[in-house]
Amino acid sequence: MKIVVANQKGGAGKTTHCILFSNYLSLEKGKSILVIDMDFQSTIKSTWDEDRDLFDNESLYEVVDVDLANSTDVMNKLKDVDIPVVIDLPGKMDDDNLVPVIEQADLIITPFSYDKKTFRATHVFAQVVKHLNPKVPVVFLPNRLKAGVNYITKEQSNRELRVFGDIAPEISDRVAFQRVDTFSIPTDIKHQALKAYDFIYNNYMQVKYEEES
Ligand SMILES: Nc1ncnc2c1ncn2[C@@H]1O[C@H](COP(=O)(O)OP(=O)(O)OP(=O)(O)O)[C@@H](O)[C@H]1O
Ligand SMILES: [Mg+2]
Repeated sequence: MKIVVANQKGGAGKTTHCILFSNYLSLEKGKSILVIDMDFQSTIKSTWDEDRDLFDNESLYEVVDVDLANSTDVMNKLKDVDIPVVIDLPGKMDDDNLVPVIEQADLIITPFSYDKKTFRATHVFAQVVKHLNPKVPVVFLPNRLKAGVNYITKEQSNRELRVFGDIAPEISDRVAFQRVDTFSIPTDIKHQALKAYDFIYNNYMQVKYEEES
């Protein structure tokens, strides 16, 4: 199952949630998974390399750094892979190499926030996704909600996004999300992260992975 974490908006939280959701699948669900870093910034791969040097931890999973230019080949190779493969994409849209990744995704997780610019970019992104891969389930993950802020456009935004997919439980803006590593889910954000990730797992992955085992 190819799970693609994507949004054309930069800085929406793709890499953060790609890492944490991978940690969740491994630690909370006991899954063997593979993580593919297709972002030219290689944030996940370098975090994973640093974590392995710093701590003597057994890695939870393998991280493979892939040049987006090779996306067609890589997606073809993944066709018969049955374990969850979590893929991090760069925050852009003007690259044809993204097409095969979106076309062959089995699930798309799209972190976003309710500010006007991000919402608009997310809405356009969702239209493109549905054009390329009409059947793929899309989960929008509201990210970086600030305590005490009344998001007046929230209900309207949710209505517009629900045309394309589901809205997961919200994630707050918390510093702990800025210090994620590739082997844990920080305790102070665990409760909240698990609520969102359980929503995704239970709705889109459980049937596939728990019938098999
Ligand atoms: N819920 C959150 N609370 C606080 N900070 C967050 C949260 N989510 C993400 N961040 C921070 O926001 C910044 C952007 O997040 P991240 O790198 O995950 O976004 P991205 O979508 O992968 O960006 P890019 O498009 O550049 O790949 C990072 O500094 C990250 O630590
Ligand atoms: Mg990123």
